[in-house]
Amino acid sequence: MKAITYSTYGTVPDLSLVEVPEPKVGPGEVLVRVKAAGVNPVDWKLAAGYLDPILEVRYPVIPGWDVAGVVEAVGPDTFDHAVGDEVYGYVRKEWVELGTYAELVSAPVRTLARKPRELTFEQAAGIPLAGLTAYQSLTRVGLRSGESVVIHSAAGGTGSFGVQIAVALGLRVIGTAGAHNHDYLRSLGAEPVLYGEGMAERIRELAPEGVDAALDFHGDGVVEILQSLVRQRDRVVSIADYEAAAKGAHQLWVRPDSADLAFLTELADTGRLTVNVEHALPLRDAAKAWELSASGRTRGKIVLTV
Ligand SMILES: NC(=O)c1ccc[n+]([C@@H]2O[C@H](COP(=O)([O-])OP(=O)(O)OC[C@H]3O[C@@H](n4cnc5c(N)ncnc54)[C@H](OP(=O)(O)O)[C@@H]3O)[C@@H](O)[C@H]2O)c1
Repeated sequence: MKAITYSTYGTVPDLSLVEVPEPKVGPGEVLVRVKAAGVNPVDWKLAAGYLDPILEVRYPVIPGWDVAGVVEAVGPDTFDHAVGDEVYGYVRKEWVELGTYAELVSAPVRTLARKPRELTFEQAAGIPLAGLTAYQSLTRVGLRSGESVVIHSAAGGTGSFGVQIAVALGLRVIGTAGAHNHDYLRSLGAEPVLYGEGMAERIRELAPEGVDAALDFHGDGVVEILQSLVRQRDRVVSIADYEAAAKGAHQLWVRPDSADLAFLTELADTGRLTVNVEHALPLRDAAKAWELSASGRTRGKIVLTV
């Protein structure tokens, strides 16, 4: 099969489309014929070596953790999905090696759920990692219907899902973004606020009584600012500030979870979650996709089509 691979760490790694052996499919796994692979900032951060202290990497690496596709084979004693099922998932395994930027990926069933019916494979491939991050961040701080939340960096992959899921859960959402994204945030159901100098004051004007929780989806040292806006300091989550726990906030690392992903399927099936695919590029253009992702300007998601 064809796959994108790299064989050393590097900020601009050599991403080649090469012929590699088809993956084996073990007990508790299914072989997925990849229709689309989602691109996440962690893909190029991993390739640059930034996660070397915590993640085991075996070369050559096929990058990518997000997939949408069709089950082509099932492993021994595996009943969760059948051949022909349309699935999607955040296929993070025990170590980094056989990812989703490929024609086939072998996926543990614990990482998969049924693909949302109303979404294309490209849209579905954009959901798992970022959608699960957003949902698990909301549940980590125990948000309930009627409460309010600030989402910092609300127009990116994680932010776009955070806004939609929070709205679906009955929350009031204040989302930060550049001015060019404010109409987009309104279309998702958030009240937009410009980030940068004066952000806290602008949020206080909208919510003088404070907010119930805040989610940092950017990691540029805003945790303390968010803590000053919430009524309870421990109801702040950051996914990108590695000092967040030391500051008394929750530092979240998204986990593959079929039940959480099935919840996102249900939101999509009932029209409450969609995906703005800003760029859909062919698999061979993975390097271009990483350049676009690293620019930090993605509205919604970038995906690779296979
Ligand atoms: N810990 C975890 O489990 C986990 C999971 C997922 C992601 N992450 C990390 O979280 C971060 C966000 O991920 P993502 O997938 O959402 O990224 P993304 O889709 O690339 O985010 C792009 C968004 O960032 C916004 N942005 C750029 N500069 C900003 C600033 N100074 N302040 C606020 N927003 C800004 C942009 O909005 P504007 O154009 O409006 O500025 C753009 O819409 C990344 O660092 C990623 O590695 C961590």
